[in-house]
Amino acid sequence: MTSTIESPRTPARPAPKRGVNLEKWGWIYMRASGVVLVVLVFGHLFVNLMVGEGVKAIDFGFVGGKWAQPFWQWWDCLLLWLALIHGANGMRTLVNDYTNPGTVQRILKGALLVAVVVLLTLGTLVIFTFEPCPAGSPAELLPSFCAA
Ligand code: HEM
Repeated sequence: MTSTIESPRTPARPAPKRGVNLEKWGWIYMRASGVVLVVLVFGHLFVNLMVGEGVKAIDFGFVGGKWAQPFWQWWDCLLLWLALIHGANGMRTLVNDYTNPGTVQRILKGALLVAVVVLLTLGTLVIFTFEPCPAGSPAELLPSFCAA
């Protein structure tokens, strides 16, 4: 018995004849975001783990101090958006590769989309609204540096 294996370059769905080719832009996004992520991820690790006292300095106050500066808010926001969309688009590729079109595939992709939207919304809100010393909170619930 013989069986024929399709060429790996055979597209699962042919590219649209006109309009935006989302698969092509997804492919480009994975490469472009990967390049930017190398800078963002290693910059993040270097500043958090190696500069100054290094890993020993990381605590609630360290995070509060970083997010008091717009530069680090935007750095972390970009890291969050690029990595989450990159990871989710990569998972979408895996779902396409390992499931057949149908209900299960739709549920898995829907779950991915919901997770991305929820995490991007919550993460962005946390980065830009983080308040380490909220006014009117009981003193015993606040970190020690808030009294100063
Ligand atoms: C250092 C930064 C990163 C670089 C340079 C990078 C690069 C890449 C590239 C080029 C691909 C496409 C591979 C292909 O199409 O065969 C890819 C796929 C993927 N990436 Fe990343 N990536 C990075 C960080 C991340 C992060 C932080 C996540 C998770 C949040 C992630 C999750 C994935 C997944 C799930 C895939 C799909 C794997 C597959 O198709 O087999 N990557 N990455």
